[in-house]
Amino acid sequence: MNPVPPVAHVSRRAGSPLNGTIRVPGDKSISHRALMFAGLAIGTTRIAGLLEGEDVLRTAAAMRALGADVTREGSGMWRVSGAGIGGLHSPEDVLDMGNSGTAARLLCGILASHDIFAVMTGDASLRRRPMRRVIDPLAACGALFAARDGGRLPLAVSGAADALPLSYRLPVASAQVKSALLLAGLNARGVTEIEEPEPTRDHSENMLRHFGAAVEVIGQGRGKLIRLRGQPELMASDVMVPGDPSSAAFPIVAALLVPGSSVTIEGVGLNPLRTGLVTTLCEMGADIVILNQRAEGGEPVGDLVVRATTLRGVDVPPERAPAMIDEYPILAVACALAKGQSRLRGLGELRVKESDRLAATLAMLRVNGAQVEVDGDDMIIMGGANRLGGGTVMTHMDHRLAMSALVLGLVADDPVTIDDAAFIDTSFPGFVDLMRGLGAVIGPAGGPVEGLA
Ligand code: S3P
Repeated sequence: MNPVPPVAHVSRRAGSPLNGTIRVPGDKSISHRALMFAGLAIGTTRIAGLLEGEDVLRTAAAMRALGADVTREGSGMWRVSGAGIGGLHSPEDVLDMGNSGTAARLLCGILASHDIFAVMTGDASLRRRPMRRVIDPLAACGALFAARDGGRLPLAVSGAADALPLSYRLPVASAQVKSALLLAGLNARGVTEIEEPEPTRDHSENMLRHFGAAVEVIGQGRGKLIRLRGQPELMASDVMVPGDPSSAAFPIVAALLVPGSSVTIEGVGLNPLRTGLVTTLCEMGADIVILNQRAEGGEPVGDLVVRATTLRGVDVPPERAPAMIDEYPILAVACALAKGQSRLRGLGELRVKESDRLAATLAMLRVNGAQVEVDGDDMIIMGGANRLGGGTVMTHMDHRLAMSALVLGLVADDPVTIDDAAFIDTSFPGFVDLMRGLGAVIGPAGGPVEGLA
């Protein structure tokens, strides 16, 4: 269900550094949640800075199909008049969540505790991804799910007319599963309790509070117990979406690696459960300065000034994975250019992302001459290969693979080609133009970039 035909792209080393001040698009996780919570609230919410990538547009369309009034008013500016908790209705047609695991899983939570029948599908990548991790715990509220073998999309759901509250301990560190359960708990009578042994991004908890729900978070060793009283009155409340740290990751690593570069990225979300990459890069010796730290819409935000640095290898502990789960492909690129060996531990969850990111990252680096191995759930990368680049990377419908490979091409000895740049739009529309504006050499394969001497 690729909306546009594949467009192979090439990136190559330029003679000059990357320079400039940019903003990256709005945070994907917060954008999905803003549309969903606003759609369940009473009154009109205005959202500024919404990510207008394919993934989030799927959520907007789904909330509209379920009865919320969702309107685009301008670039990144959206107005949502909610139907109220319990007020959504069955969609007339299949809900197509495209490439987006977050949209699909969070929506399962909403549907589970509404008296609604719905059928959900997605593109070939999403139809391969496991949904049992949400539908099994959600069934305990009284919802009936029927899915393809292995718990994969398409699935059908008959939501519970009178949902029971859930009590669940997360077996995997997943903010999507946690959020699906919280969304279901919103329309259950009683208190939903979720135990999270490893903390994951807490945008849902923050946004629930922002919309007036009572959420209690109790520390439990490293983890947390989250308690939500069901059927609160969610009141419309405007949302400002910060820049996505997972998107900022690409210009950050590019600026560190291209010699002489200096790039400022303004308005980046700095929720501590999202900043594992910045922590790791600083351990590698990166020159990253955070300015103007502030809070916007209940989330910490700052401006990052990134200057090119020679990086050294790093050993990343497994417990940091949830705070940088989407950043491993681009971190692996940084490690391939660093001095010495890196070991990235505890990456099992990467196997069930938009692609098998463990295998795809390994293949991306190997085809471009880096020495890399997977040992169980760890990735080991030897930095400083004699000659990098010259390979064609298969992106497997995965936006983050595509952008990581294009950043690799900016510093490799030979150009790097990707089979398809179309999926970049799921999270980072305008990526190629933004990077070009900084001085990067990226363009369609067969075009002028490839033809450069
Ligand atoms: C997300 C959670 C993470 C992340 C995804 C967005 C979210 O997934 O990889 O891109 O918005 O909750 P998991 O919950 O599967 O770790």
